[in-house]
Amino acid sequence: MKTLFNTVLVASLCMSSSTFAAQIVGHRGASFDAPENTLSSFKLGYKQNADADELDIHLTKDGKVVVMHDYDMARTGGEKLKVSEHTLEELRALDIGKWGKWQGKGFSEKIPLLEEVLALIPDGKRLFIEIKCGPEVLPELANVLKKAGKKPEQTVIIGFGYETMQAAKEKFPNLEVNWLVQADKKKVFPPVEDLIAKSKAAKLDGLDLNQGFPIDKQFVDKVHAAGLKLYTWTVDDPIVAKAEAEAGVDGITTNRPGWMREQLAAKS
Ligand code: G3P
Ligand code: CA
Repeated sequence: MKTLFNTVLVASLCMSSSTFAAQIVGHRGASFDAPENTLSSFKLGYKQNADADELDIHLTKDGKVVVMHDYDMARTGGEKLKVSEHTLEELRALDIGKWGKWQGKGFSEKIPLLEEVLALIPDGKRLFIEIKCGPEVLPELANVLKKAGKKPEQTVIIGFGYETMQAAKEKFPNLEVNWLVQADKKKVFPPVEDLIAKSKAAKLDGLDLNQGFPIDKQFVDKVHAAGLKLYTWTVDDPIVAKAEAEAGVDGITTNRPGWMREQLAAKS
């Protein structure tokens, strides 16, 4: 009887300590294992059992919502075409699967439309959509989201532009809209109280903070007490991820979603 009791006790302790509630978000997809912000990267993110993928959007000259981190195609496509000054067809002439370490790895990728990525989201999984441009994208974003017909909880809007996030929340009251914040030019991290006050003033749903913020349980509790969610990026160090998960963050954005989940399970 005592042995059975001990077994049950150990099993339940293991279960409680091995379960991190934090979602794992694939940064630009599974961008450690496939070229960032491509369909291959997003498919792989979900295949690696990420709870969500994250991507960056811009508006093309012909009004399409496309997925790209930079404002131009120089780094990933080899030609300095500014996304907002070219049509989808012109941008799609470039292969964004062969730059840097991806040369010779067999990838051939075109700049994705947001609608193509929305169509990949498995049931129960989410997509974090970072608005890199300004509010001019919102009307077409609304069309694309409506056409995709995903459940409201499956798409999350994020962005650094405070006014753009405020406008996004007004446009999409049913969607989660979170404000991205990093250190200022002098490498100073704004106080969490200020971030909470600004988020509440804009009726946003949460904060999405860069590595370096002093995130511990007290910090997370303050954000949660204000009714806000808290995500972090870009966390590829399992020690940092574990500390943040234990502190109670809602999600961790990483380039290595599958590997990070394994690391967290091993550390629990
Ligand atoms: O998920 C937020 C993060 O992606 C913001 O930084 O430069 O990678 O878009 P960046
Ligand atoms: Ca991003």
